[in-house]
Amino acid sequence: MDHGFLLVLLFSFIISTPYIHASNQTECTCLLAFARTLSSPPINWSGSVDCCRWNGITCNQEGWVTHLILPSKGLKGGMFVSPLGNLTHLTHLNLSQNSLYGTLETKFFSSLNHLEILDLSYNLLSGELPFSLPPKNIQTIDFGNISQGLGGCSELQILRAGDNNLSGSLPEDIYNATKLVELALPLNSLNGAISERIANLANLTILDFYFNNLSGVLPVNFGKLSKLKFMNFDFNNLEGNLPPSLMNCTNLLEIHLGFNYLEGDLTTPNFSKLSHLSKLDLIGNNFTAIRLSENPYLEGQIQHEILSLKSLSFLSLADLRLTNATGALKILMRCKSLRSLFLGGSFGREALLADDDMVDFHGFQNLRLLSL
Ligand SMILES: *[C@@H]1O[C@H](CO)[C@@H](O)[C@H](O)[C@H]1NC(C)=O
Ligand SMILES: *[C@@H]1O[C@H](CO)[C@@H](O)[C@H](O)[C@H]1NC(C)=O
Ligand SMILES: *[C@@H]1O[C@H](CO)[C@@H](O)[C@H](O)[C@H]1NC(C)=O
Ligand SMILES: *[C@@H]1O[C@H](CO)[C@@H](O)[C@H](O)[C@H]1NC(C)=O
Ligand SMILES: *[C@@H]1O[C@H](CO)[C@@H](O)[C@H](O)[C@H]1NC(C)=O
Ligand SMILES: *[C@@H]1O[C@H](CO)[C@@H](O)[C@H](O)[C@H]1NC(C)=O
Ligand SMILES: *[C@@H]1O[C@H](CO)[C@@H](O)[C@H](O)[C@H]1NC(C)=O
Ligand SMILES: *[C@@H]1O[C@H](CO)[C@@H](O)[C@H](O)[C@H]1NC(C)=O
Ligand SMILES: *[C@@H]1O[C@H](CO)[C@@H](O)[C@H](O)[C@H]1NC(C)=O
Ligand SMILES: *[C@@H]1O[C@H](CO)[C@@H](O)[C@H](O)[C@H]1NC(C)=O
Ligand SMILES: *[C@@H]1O[C@H](CO)[C@@H](O)[C@H](O)[C@H]1NC(C)=O
Ligand SMILES: *[C@@H]1O[C@H](CO)[C@@H](O)[C@H](O)[C@H]1NC(C)=O
Repeated sequence: MDHGFLLVLLFSFIISTPYIHASNQTECTCLLAFARTLSSPPINWSGSVDCCRWNGITCNQEGWVTHLILPSKGLKGGMFVSPLGNLTHLTHLNLSQNSLYGTLETKFFSSLNHLEILDLSYNLLSGELPFSLPPKNIQTIDFGNISQGLGGCSELQILRAGDNNLSGSLPEDIYNATKLVELALPLNSLNGAISERIANLANLTILDFYFNNLSGVLPVNFGKLSKLKFMNFDFNNLEGNLPPSLMNCTNLLEIHLGFNYLEGDLTTPNFSKLSHLSKLDLIGNNFTAIRLSENPYLEGQIQHEILSLKSLSFLSLADLRLTNATGALKILMRCKSLRSLFLGGSFGREALLADDDMVDFHGFQNLRLLSL
């Protein structure tokens, strides 16, 4: 091989690498305006005039900013809403684990029509979730465009804004974001009820409202969320019965409903349909009865029992208000996958198993943690 050939090779390599389009200067100005709203530390965006090359920024072919990914950068700052709201081609925004404070303004979402992933979790945001246009804007936009404006969230697939100080109830428009796969707003102060319209969000696989102030009953048509794998409503004020349709969410892996005011008779729901379920946490509710097998009350309905949950590894039935539960240990010891079992405060008249029962070849084969 002579050097000429190498040079040609090298040259053709250089010209065949994809040309990165220069950034739109207006977009760079917006980013700098955003950077100026942050008090510390400064974002290191000085290296190039082309903002598409800046740390955390990705642009598309046309030079529009599509990704702004700056999690865990120690960013501190107040209103960052207006400058970022001008980045109309943004699809991914991840500012989680910083110290951003202030309220999210509706204006922000109304122009980010392409947003697919929004992660603002672990910040200091407060105020209400802004998924509707303020009434004053309605006059200036015709109706065809209102829905587009509100549809600011229509492309949204992931919304994480957990561990902030968000309050108010869930905005109605969230139920129009039918592409949502993950809705995670744990550790906030959201209140009000979950609307029956949650059924619109049939793409949801993760629904996390851990530690909020939600009230009301779980929607009757919850079962329409057939792709749901993970639900967490621990530490809210939910009341009423479990919707029977919950048992239609057959892809569920984890159900967390601990520390609410749910009540009623758990002998009705057919848990056995949830064949993938690995965690069921009902601790601290007002349920009065539960279906386990061999309960005389339930004879002949063995197909409905928790016992048939082959994947169940975590079960907490602690601190319920079961009125007449006995034989639970003897029954649950046959749950082959069970690793953690919490029964404290619920099974007051329960007798401990005799030694030879506990070491029974068939009993508690995988148990690691038993809390009475
Ligand atoms: C840059 O973006 C602005 C809007 O933010 C737009 O009006 C302008 O046409 C864009 N310029 C180019 C060269 O794309
Ligand atoms: C964002 O757009 C608005 C109007 O569309 C304009 O007034 C404002 O200056 C823009 N902000 C930046 C940082 O370019
Ligand atoms: C800022 O980034 C440039 C490259 O983009 C790098 O050379 C420089 O060391 C960085 N400065 C700091 C303080 O991180
Ligand atoms: C945002 O970034 C953090 C830190 O890298 C990451 O853990 C998280 O999954 C990201 N969020 C989304 C929605 O991808
Ligand atoms: C939305 O508004 C634009 C002008 O801003 C107009 O051209 C368009 O037709 C409107 N779309 C609908 C669906 O009404
Ligand atoms: C949301 O969907 C409902 C119907 O389910 C519709 O009446 C409403 O106009 C939609 N809102 C927006 C902002 O698209
Ligand atoms: C959280 O929000 C409440 C009002 O909703 C406010 O009183 C409180 O100061 C906020 N806390 C923080 C840390 O921002
Ligand atoms: C689920 O999301 C896909 C796109 O990701 C969308 O086409 C579909 O309409 C959504 N399903 C429902 C029931 O809204
Ligand atoms: C929780 O909601 C109840 C009403 O359902 C209300 O009285 C209470 O003040 C709320 N608590 C917080 C911390 O928001
Ligand atoms: C569960 O799904 C089945 C079949 O899709 C349907 O016939 C039934 O009505 C649903 N049950 C509930 C309680 O929603
Ligand atoms: C549920 O239990 C709580 C105590 O944990 C009690 O104050 C409340 O009245 C009960 N609610 C219902 C509906 O039984
Ligand atoms: C508890 O269940 C047993 C067996 O079914 C029944 O004989 C008894 O009456 C029940 N006690 C109460 C208080 O419901």
